[in-house]
Formats: sequence, C-alpha cells, structure tokens
Amino acid sequence: MATTRPDDCVLVIFGGTGDLARRKLYPALYNLAVDGFLPASFQVIAVGRRDFARGGFRREILLPSLQTFSRRAGDLARKFEAFAAHLHYFRTDIYDPQGYTRLAGLLEQLEQKAGCQNGDPDICWGDDNQPGINGGQGRGRNNYRGVGSNLAGDPGRNRGEGACRGNRIFYLAVAPEHFGAVVENLHQAGLVPARGWQRVVIEKPFGHDLPSAAALNRQLRAVFSEEEIYRIDHYLGKEMIQNLMVMRFANIFFEPVWNNKYIDHVQITSTETVGVVDRGDYYDRAGALRDMVQNHLLQLVTLVAMEPPANLSTEAIRDEKVKVLRSLQPLDAAAVSKNVIRGQYGAGAIEGQAVLPYRREKEVAPDSLTETFVALKIFIDNFRWAGVPFYLRTGKRLPDKVTEIILQFKSLPDILYFKEYGELQPNVLVIRVQPLEGVYVQLNAKRPGNDNYIVPIRLDFCQNCEVGVNSPEAYERLLYDVMRGDATLFTRWDEVEAAWRFIDPITAAWAAQEPPQFPNYAAGRWGPPAAQELLLRDGRHWWQEEEWLPEPG
Ligand code: BG6
Repeated sequence: MATTRPDDCVLVIFGGTGDLARRKLYPALYNLAVDGFLPASFQVIAVGRRDFARGGFRREILLPSLQTFSRRAGDLARKFEAFAAHLHYFRTDIYDPQGYTRLAGLLEQLEQKAGCQNGDPDICWGDDNQPGINGGQGRGRNNYRGVGSNLAGDPGRNRGEGACRGNRIFYLAVAPEHFGAVVENLHQAGLVPARGWQRVVIEKPFGHDLPSAAALNRQLRAVFSEEEIYRIDHYLGKEMIQNLMVMRFANIFFEPVWNNKYIDHVQITSTETVGVVDRGDYYDRAGALRDMVQNHLLQLVTLVAMEPPANLSTEAIRDEKVKVLRSLQPLDAAAVSKNVIRGQYGAGAIEGQAVLPYRREKEVAPDSLTETFVALKIFIDNFRWAGVPFYLRTGKRLPDKVTEIILQFKSLPDILYFKEYGELQPNVLVIRVQPLEGVYVQLNAKRPGNDNYIVPIRLDFCQNCEVGVNSPEAYERLLYDVMRGDATLFTRWDEVEAAWRFIDPITAAWAAQEPPQFPNYAAGRWGPPAAQELLLRDGRHWWQEEEWLPEPG
C-alpha cells in the first residue's frame, strides 16, 4: 500500500455526462480538492457526446452534480469556480477517430502549460500559496509540488516535462461494450503511450461470465499492461473494508481465533431498499449474482478469509486474496440446488410506500426470470477455514440498506454458566460497513444486581455516529489511489478470473433447472423463505440488527 502523494496528471473521463460521473466522480474529485488531496498540477477532461452552449457543462452537469452528491456541498459558493476551472468539456463520439486526434491536441495543450513550479494559477490548484480551491486550508497536507516523486519499481513514472508531467489517466465510465473501441482509438491516435505514465480505469460489469471477461481483458491488454489497468470494485474503497485488514492484522486478539477452531460461521450481508432505479436494462441481463456476488461479496470474503500477506505491497495482498478465491469449494448442480437460493421481488412496501414488482420496473421483461435476491452457503477449502460455512446474501427491495460482516464464534463447552443459567448467546463480532461504520462485539456479562443473571452486552465502536464525522466516499479513496499508482484496492485479473470460475457453474446450474417460481418475496421482506431455511436447517439464523440484544427475560 503506497503512502506517496498523487502525481501530477490529466484525467480523461469517457462518459463525462453520464450517471457515474455525475453521481460519483465529480463529487469525489471536488471533495478531494477541498480536502487538499489532489496533485498540485491536475486537469480533468470530461468527454461526452452532448452539445452544450458556452458554460453549459458547468451549469447543467457539474454544479448540480456537486450540489446533489457532494458531502462538501456547503462550501460550493466559495469554491466552485476554482474547482470548475480545472474541468474541460470535450465533445466527441467515442467511435469517431478524428475526435481522438483532437483530444490528443487538447491534452498536449494542457500538458504544455507551465507547471506549478512557475505558479500558473490556472493549473496550480493544490498549492497552499495560491488562492486555489482549498485556499490554504489544507496546509501541511497539500504542500506537494509534483516534483521528484518517483516511486520505486515504476520505471515509467514522471518522465514527462511541464504541467501534469505527461501523465494520463483514462477513466472509462462507459458500458463495457465500448471499452475495446475506446482503447484502440486511444492507441491509434497516439494518446498512449503517454510521455509520462498512463493508466486506465474501468468499472464493472467486467464481463458476463469467464469467456466474456477474458475477451474484454484481451482488448484492454492489447494497449495497457496489467499494472496500468485499474478495475474498480467500489466496495474496496469503503472505509470499513479498508479497516478490515488493519483490524485483523493490527490487533493481537483477532488472529489467534480467526479460524475454524473458534469461528462457527461467517455471514456477509449487503442489502438494499431500492429497486433497479433506472438500470433495468442492465440489471435484467445481470441479476444479483453477477451484479453483487461475483465482485463485491466475493471481495469481502477474500478480505475476511485471507492469510496475513508477506508485506503490505499491492501484489502481496492481492496474492493472498486470489488464493482465497481459488480455494472456494466449487458448487456442482446438486450443491447449487441446495445451497444457493434465488429470489425476485413482487409488489410490496418499502418504508410504508407501495412499490412495483420487479417485473413491472422500467426496461425489465414482464416475464423476467432474473434474480433480485441471492443467498448462498459456501466453503473455503483450506486449513484455516475448512468446515466453516460462509453465508452470503444480497438483494434489492429488502427492509434495510445495510452491509455487514458477522463472525459468530463457537459456543463454549456446556459447563459452568451454561449449566446454571441455560442458554447463553454466542460471541459475535460485527463489522458494520454501511450505513453505520464500526465494529462491535457481543459478549456475555452479569446483569448488575444480586442474582447472577447473564445478559449479552455490546462493546460498540461506531466511527460515523458522532456529529462531524464524515467519512470519505469510496470513490475519493479510489481516485486518489489511481493518481498515486496504488492498485491495492483494485482487482487484479486473476481475481476476476477466479471469481467467474466460481460463479459460472451456478448460472449454468440455474439454466438447467426448472424455471423458478418468481416473484417469491414481497418487496420489503427479507427475501424468500428458503433464504431463512438455508440457515435454520443448520441450526443457525441470519443476525438482524433488531435481534442482537434480546431483552433480559
Ligand atoms: C453496484 C451495483 O455495484 O453496487 C448496484 O451495480 C448496487 O446494483 C450498488 O445498487 C450498491 O452499492 P452501495 O455502495 O450502495 O452498497
């Protein structure tokens, strides 16, 4: 994990007027700017097809995006202009080769401007001595000048001269079917190789199955090396997910019990109250298994289950993660029938409001067999985890938006307190990822008083419950890492490959089964009854927040 500051660079966003750019990328860049985390010399080119009148991009796209989605929107009146001065809108069709030639011209032009060393206020926005975006408020953090930062082991860095040092990031915020054309055009028009370094950032879905993912990867690899490809899994940018490794490996009392001798099972839940919003077309082709499990949930499994890495380098960490994916016990058709539950929501209510069934959502087939819920029981066949079930579940239109990792410990032998006071609660470690961020442990303790009544208590740490704590958005950390060349929180190709190898047999088994009886859960319920039975038949149950601390009877 790098601790360096980001290099000066130009960021080119394809899909610059799209949903991702508006909801996530511009707000993240603005937040980074306000907090003083952008390189001293930095420019953004938003590429889109829309034609705007002069200033239209700022007015119609950029400003509303920051007003609606930035956690720093309060500062906009003072800071918007300084921020916007670094964003340029460039209109072209991503299939038009001429457009790339013109884009190359704009990049050259921006890169040839004088650098921050010469105090060009147009380009120098991260400098504490300039009246830039952070107006000196980031002093101490933001004294980076973009010179002489040369990370070991990356020979291509900082070769360029002038502002932005000829370093280029291409962010493909477009559908994956366009990736091939964009990278090919970048290459043909000479936008890559850059004078400095070049990096490409891509979003999921990374393929639909292993063959399509491999084809996509070949297209990217024709132009970029593996080290230059940053595959985003935004869950890895979430605060508590980054914290997971630190907690595991920086506290002595976790590691000794973090194995099949002490852990009964693991639950990973990531649920949402929303439906498919305006992504019905994509979602109906993907479904919950591909949309959430293949990437986010399996990534969480790797972080919970991985061995301590040899060191904190990107590759050492990724090596351990990929070993977990390769150790997943494959699911054959019989195991899929038994251990993978799928569901689709029907009509129901969320927070008291009636909502439509999935099949009546926009751009969804009226007889769709796509799953909007999935629950799985999986095993990791290695020495640490053999025999410990990992239960995963995710779904849309469930009662709560919550992501949590729960480790339930084995029960103590049936002696002492058990004998005297009946059933005790198991010890549970809960890592709350969102919306609350924190950790808590459930213990058994004596209720104050003259009798020896045992009750479960919580040691609870919540890092975003206090007023004023405003954790960075996942995309802030991820963009920051791309700029400083740290790929630890991005997925390497062999991880993607191993994840698809695990998922493909599930979709194949489903295709061979009788079509499911959908819808099978009402919006606003915790998925189909079979998802509860998956654990009940093992003598376990899904932990729900409201059940954690039963009132003493
Ligand atoms: C995306 C999925 O990757 O993650 C969406 O495509 C889902 O369907 C989203 O809604 C959930 O992300 P978060 O950060 O809101 O939990």
